[in-house]
Amino acid sequence: MAFYRVGPETERLEHRVFGAEDAEAFFSLNGNPDVMRLTGEPLCPSLEAAREAIANYPDFDTVGYGRWGCVLKETQTIIGFCGLKSLPDLDETDVGYRFLPEYWGQGLATEACRASLDFGFSTLSLERMIGLVLPENTASIRVLEKAGMQPDGEVIYDGTLALRYVKRR
Ligand SMILES: CC(C)(COP(=O)(O)OP(=O)(O)OC[C@H]1O[C@@H](n2cnc3c(N)ncnc32)[C@H](O)[C@@H]1OP(=O)(O)O)[C@@H](O)C(=O)NCCC(=O)NCCS
Repeated sequence: MAFYRVGPETERLEHRVFGAEDAEAFFSLNGNPDVMRLTGEPLCPSLEAAREAIANYPDFDTVGYGRWGCVLKETQTIIGFCGLKSLPDLDETDVGYRFLPEYWGQGLATEACRASLDFGFSTLSLERMIGLVLPENTASIRVLEKAGMQPDGEVIYDGTLALRYVKRR
């Protein structure tokens, strides 16, 4: 199995795994209520919890890929995450992303999402990928659409109704 601790590079972004030194950046992102509001995931409560989440994120060791930190090339700082997550219970691979509010509205999520999808098709040879999004998350739905994903019904995931978008090879 190959391990992709470094992900795709785009015009403005590099992708790499979060390390212990990224705990503050991870907390700024996942501890921000504005960022987390429409993700369906709980707020990261503390810097310590961020450290633990980074240390206990198994995907890169078990399936070889996961959500990468998005490094803005211009400043070499982490401004979000994007990447692919294996969902064995649904037998799918999900694309997901999240950025600090001061970087919204510049096309960065679309740039990152497209790169993750390309990576999934070209490098991982996946046949399809999905995106799960809360119906009220219009900005994220727009990102999925701009990345060429098509609506594909609804699923209950983690007890919450989500819209499913799909892109096939
Ligand atoms: C969703 C998110 C990643 C989008 O990031 P971004 O870098 O601003 O996205 P982009 O600039 O690539 O594209 C956003 C699109 O949504 C549109 N948009 C933004 N807010 C909107 C809103 N409230 N209603 C409708 N459209 C909206 C933008 O106009 C843009 O579309 P356009 O290019 O056609 O104008 C960002 O808002 C975020 O991090 N949100 C919090 C975390 C989150 O919800 N992640 C997704 C979970 S599924």
